[in-house]
Amino acid sequence: TIDQKVDSLLAMMTLEEKVGQMNQYNGFWDVTGPSQREDMAWKYEHLRKGWVGSMLSVRGAKEVRAVQKIAVEETRLGIPLIIGFDVIHGYKTLSPIPLAEAASWDLEAIKKSASVAAAEASASGINWTFGPMVDISRDARWGRVMEGAGEDPFLGCKVAVARVKGFQGEDLSAVNTIAACAKHFAAYGFVEAGKEYNTADIGPSTLHNVVLPPFKAAVNAGVRTLMNSFNELNGIPLTGHSSLQRDILKGEWGFNGFVVSDWASIAEMIPWGHAKDKREAAKIAATAGSDMDMEGYIYVEELAQLVRDGVVEEALIDDAVRRILYLKFELGLFDDPYKYCNEAREKETIGCEEHRQAVLDMAKKSIVLLKNEGHLLPLKKDGQKIALIGPLVADKNSPLGSWRIASEDHTAVSILEGMQEYAGNSLIYKKGVDLTVGETAFTQETTINKTDRSGFDEAIEAARQVDVVVMVLGEHGFQTGEGRSRTDLQLPGLQQVLLEAVSKVNPNIVLVLNNGRPLAITWADKHIPAIVEAWQLGTESGRAIAQVLYGDYNPSGKLPMTFPRNVGQVPIYYNRKNTGRPFPNIDDPQNVFWTHYSDVDNTPLYPFGYGLSYTQFSHKNLRLDKDTAEVGDSIEVSVDVTNTGDREGKEVVQLYIRDLVGSVTRPIKELKGFELVELKVGETKTIRFTLDHSTLGFYNNDGRYIVEPGDFKVFVGGDSNASLTADFSLH
Ligand code: IFM
Repeated sequence: TIDQKVDSLLAMMTLEEKVGQMNQYNGFWDVTGPSQREDMAWKYEHLRKGWVGSMLSVRGAKEVRAVQKIAVEETRLGIPLIIGFDVIHGYKTLSPIPLAEAASWDLEAIKKSASVAAAEASASGINWTFGPMVDISRDARWGRVMEGAGEDPFLGCKVAVARVKGFQGEDLSAVNTIAACAKHFAAYGFVEAGKEYNTADIGPSTLHNVVLPPFKAAVNAGVRTLMNSFNELNGIPLTGHSSLQRDILKGEWGFNGFVVSDWASIAEMIPWGHAKDKREAAKIAATAGSDMDMEGYIYVEELAQLVRDGVVEEALIDDAVRRILYLKFELGLFDDPYKYCNEAREKETIGCEEHRQAVLDMAKKSIVLLKNEGHLLPLKKDGQKIALIGPLVADKNSPLGSWRIASEDHTAVSILEGMQEYAGNSLIYKKGVDLTVGETAFTQETTINKTDRSGFDEAIEAARQVDVVVMVLGEHGFQTGEGRSRTDLQLPGLQQVLLEAVSKVNPNIVLVLNNGRPLAITWADKHIPAIVEAWQLGTESGRAIAQVLYGDYNPSGKLPMTFPRNVGQVPIYYNRKNTGRPFPNIDDPQNVFWTHYSDVDNTPLYPFGYGLSYTQFSHKNLRLDKDTAEVGDSIEVSVDVTNTGDREGKEVVQLYIRDLVGSVTRPIKELKGFELVELKVGETKTIRFTLDHSTLGFYNNDGRYIVEPGDFKVFVGGDSNASLTADFSLH
């Protein structure tokens, strides 16, 4: 068995070799020839000594073979490396950013997207991705919301499982699968004020009911690794969080994979003020169950001595090394360390037509139609005169998003190119305004164009001459992602000014948004007739958008995160608490002593789960198989959904519940089921859901899952405002 093989290997290892397995180096260095960077040469030496168990960001069959060769042929025991890489939404052929994929609510498509990414990455020598990110977040200011599945734990669990299964496949030793890594454990999505790397201070109810479920779901789905996070949680940096890692993850949940730190985050316990020096940081992290040190140099420098001094038990080191070696065996690296390094496969797999089709399919499914007044969409193919305006119309780089290390810059199909496939050269294109001044991989506020309006006049002139204006505005792909928290959620730079100027001369505007987080587009919602949320959709972006705009694909995406009216509403999320003074107070609208803001409409701009179609759906006949049940019983819910419009379409039917009274107060609504259903014109389908023990309960403040007797409400509909209701009680 693998366990026996691991044990016999472990018995041969020196303490330094064991610690070496727990050490991961970044490999942005020249591995095939003499090092160009002298200061990196020492990493080769460590590798030869057997002091390195993993490398990240080495890629390419040839390059990986070169480092693997050192590990296998030049170290005493020849233990192969495990090669990690951030395969976040595709490898070279890019899928939509993860938040966009979640908007599809299409778990099969999401799984397929991850399997395409795995096929390409594994063909490039990679064994392990640092994904999926399963952090729930309610704060659009946080730049990394683009990497997750949004605000809801139920949807988050389903998407996490789909991604883990897509990356890992049925058989981890297969040549086209890679190990997954659920990250960032935990509560990184709850950093205070959405500020990157900040403190997170949340109570047990949010931790157990919102933050932890997607990690648990990933563990139950067999995820092989977890990454901990840069933030602290209630005063404890996660790299040193023993109760989460040892007690909950490896104890209660029985996780038998390993935990990797985030980049240098073991060392970061020093500036956090949790460890006084490197030695103490190593001791805390190893004791707390951080098995591998990513590019932190702490374990390799400190751990062996700590064991020799009797400060850290060798049994803890053995446990970590066992977990790491086990995965290397599972991946088949001991059978053939070069099995992922096959130049011919690399050449034929990466960027192949099948993969382009898969990411195109995913991109179309990720688009959300937010508004379509007067049926401005779909565009007509009969010679309608169209102007394309905006800084993102011809951009071939921004749609690739911010995680695209292996892809080539400027390789996305732009919206201009996608639209030209329909309308050829009859389209008028004017940029109107630059979004950024120059372009950098670290788009900061200082690089946003706030002064140059020189393109305004010709854009306005073009708008005057056409039937419809398609404006493509939003955020650059580099404005979201790690390190890109923002305090403003409006269209950056001069885009809002341009939008208002164009709408004065031609109100027939289709606003296509490209962005990585919910934006507060309140003015646009009021004044612009058609709005399409097209995120950053990856390699086939422009083609997917054009197919939706021209009606060859009927959009079916639904928002995985609430869109606020202004940044002051954030955090805003549908599964909030009622409070003791719920708003609105219908008895007296003038009374101010209620939970609300007095200067804004207190509803969101677009609620969670919201999205339109070119057809319409009705939800009727909500029924339950019983209205009372025993705790532990299941309730069957059914509803009839009809396509009442004039074209075929897909609807995400959503089921929410409310537990009216709880020993810990319950949210006003919680998503507990959804189904993506395809309906022909006039067709009705009955959709059935089961509410059971796993969906009717919650974690109390001791972290214990309980189902309480009492009254419940069921809501079904096409978004989180779902208005069909039914009641039942549990005894
Ligand atoms: O995987 C990432 C992580 O999400 C953020 N810090 C760096 C890691 C490796 O690139």
